[in-house]
Amino acid sequence: MIVMEDSEIRIRHYSSKHKILLVGEGDFSFSLCLASAFGSATNITATSLDSEDELSKKYMDAMVNVSMLARFGCDVQHEGFLENAKEMLEENGEIHITHKTTYPFSDWEIERLAKAEGLKLAKESKFERSHYPGYNNKRGSGGRESDKYFPVGECSTLMFIQK
Ligand SMILES: C[S@@+](CC[C@H](N)C(=O)[O-])C[C@H]1O[C@@H](n2cnc3c(N)ncnc32)[C@H](O)[C@@H]1O
Repeated sequence: MIVMEDSEIRIRHYSSKHKILLVGEGDFSFSLCLASAFGSATNITATSLDSEDELSKKYMDAMVNVSMLARFGCDVQHEGFLENAKEMLEENGEIHITHKTTYPFSDWEIERLAKAEGLKLAKESKFERSHYPGYNNKRGSGGRESDKYFPVGECSTLMFIQK
């Protein structure tokens, strides 16, 4: 009998062999992009600050994306996860924060805030939306404006590890 190990599928920094926690999702299209690439989402926990009710009011596609994620076996959760992310990190885990690098967003000093939480910057990589097919970047605030795109501009993914 031949037993085949599940093969690894990668999309940029993300692997079907990683355990992935996504924080601050908008319409959940980024999570769905990863799940579609992997063909499964049993390794993904996808979270939003928005409740289900807020999501359905703000984003045209959010609930469809959430139900497709559930079919892929994703753990989907809503409301308040950023401050808990560090506690959920496993020994060799990473926290990735993708953020604009130009002013005024650069003033948020994410690296300094992460350092204060005992995290160390392991790598910084320029973010390109085209690397993630199906991902629709959404504004997130402003009522009906939430479902609109924002200009991605200069963005980086900051990858933090435990100090
Ligand atoms: C500009 S939107 C981007 C949404 C999505 N990540 C995307 O790329 O399309 C910012 C998101 O961050 C979420 N957010 C803001 N503060 C947060 C917090 N403290 N914890 C988790 N999510 C937060 C908002 O609810 C909003 O959905």
